[in-house]
Amino acid sequence: RTTIKELPQLAQRQLPQPVCVKGWVRTKRGNKAVCFVALNDGSTIHSIQIVIDKTQTDPKLIEQITTGAAIGVVGTLVASQGQGQEYEIQASEITIYGTSDPVRYPLQKKGHTLEFLREIAHLRPRTNTFAAVLRIRHNMAYAIHTFFHERGYFYLHTPIITSSDAEGAGQMFTVTTLDMNKLPLAKDGSVDYSKDFFGKHTSLTVSGQLEGELGAMALGGIYTFGPTFRAENSNTPRHLAEFWMVEPEVAFMDNEGNQDLAEAFTKHCLQWALDHCMDDLEFLAEHYDKELIERIRFVVERPFVRTTYTEGVAILEEAVRNGKKFEFPVYWGADLASEHERYLVEQHYNAPVIMTDYPKEIKAFYMKQNEDGKTVRGMDVLFPHIGEIIGGSERETDIDKLTARAQEVGIKDKDLWWYLDTRRYGSAPHAGFGLGFERLLLFVTGMTNIRDVIPFPRTPNNANF
Ligand code: 4AD
Ligand code: MG
Repeated sequence: RTTIKELPQLAQRQLPQPVCVKGWVRTKRGNKAVCFVALNDGSTIHSIQIVIDKTQTDPKLIEQITTGAAIGVVGTLVASQGQGQEYEIQASEITIYGTSDPVRYPLQKKGHTLEFLREIAHLRPRTNTFAAVLRIRHNMAYAIHTFFHERGYFYLHTPIITSSDAEGAGQMFTVTTLDMNKLPLAKDGSVDYSKDFFGKHTSLTVSGQLEGELGAMALGGIYTFGPTFRAENSNTPRHLAEFWMVEPEVAFMDNEGNQDLAEAFTKHCLQWALDHCMDDLEFLAEHYDKELIERIRFVVERPFVRTTYTEGVAILEEAVRNGKKFEFPVYWGADLASEHERYLVEQHYNAPVIMTDYPKEIKAFYMKQNEDGKTVRGMDVLFPHIGEIIGGSERETDIDKLTARAQEVGIKDKDLWWYLDTRRYGSAPHAGFGLGFERLLLFVTGMTNIRDVIPFPRTPNNANF
């Protein structure tokens, strides 16, 4: 079997030549004498035209070639006489692997809305759009591993089931081993979840960072790349309850090094997409977002602007004084909303922005405190069209400051003893960040809803299978 992606190379070498392809029927048309089938096998956005001589073929077999059916074709790759394709396959033998009832098959020839496709998430990989997104998703994962591997970082597998709240934000899903038929009840009649996971309270991880820091303190540079879970009830186009995060953590690296790494890393991934996914990008640009490829190039070429939170807030306040209207208020100490981030990126600086030195109250307990006593060495990377795509920081190494902050946000020392050991034994400056994988994909694919860049989205209203 040859994949359809390999056909251009074959065609270049020699025409005509024998081939065998297998895939799913996209469309069928024709006249009394010939039948034209567009076949796609998922290897590429392009379908191949199969030409079937009706006079030589059993009509019953032709009837079974319907949109969605799985078929195999043995034939000859020839230069096409028709317009719209350079070559096509003249079929000599057709195998039907699986028929598909043309009336009931949910994916008809016509285009479907992304909203409709979300309702049939089990079939949407068969569409051009979603297959393109999935191929790009694979390529971005590969680019991420390549980037870190080539720089000598090690891929560290951090746990999914954990007993620590890495972000201290209290947005965790509880993991239970309780017998659902015999749930222990508290006095008020509610389920007593304290008796879960063999007697210890555990949750699904919100971030692999804390374990990642343990790795960095031994291997020098590591990265994690896995699913993370947040029980935030935010029904927005940028939030999922289950999303994938990439978290590098590097010993002896400071806040500036962290910014350099984040910029080099995102540019590498985007350049990879331009180098390896152009067919899919062109398809998505044509159908959804005319400026997609330009925008990707723009971020690859543009030096990221580096600024502080204080500076950013001053610019936003100035904009408000000049009549700019935002939905949420801006003042020093406020958590910036994506409308603020996008104003800075798209209208003020006209470049991706790395914002640093946030008020400590709005950031996690582990971020290194600055001398001013008010701000921490955190950084967010802000992208056009997206807003926050990365969050990270240099980490606090002073154990007293660290435990004081942890206490302030309600994390107990007894839950953090293992983490604090890195500060007790051979502590070293270190920094890292987390990239939301689906946020990167939103940017690269031009999709506007995060549910359209993950195969099986998990959101407050969606866990169908
Ligand atoms: O800013 P966050 O919460 O940072 C951390 O979790 C740190 N532990 C990272 C680190 O320093 N190692 O999340 C990091 C990124 C965000 O910038 C965003 O891109 C993405 O993860 N993210 C989400 N993506 C989809 N759905 C959600 N609910 C997300 N929450 C965060
Ligand atoms: Mg963040």
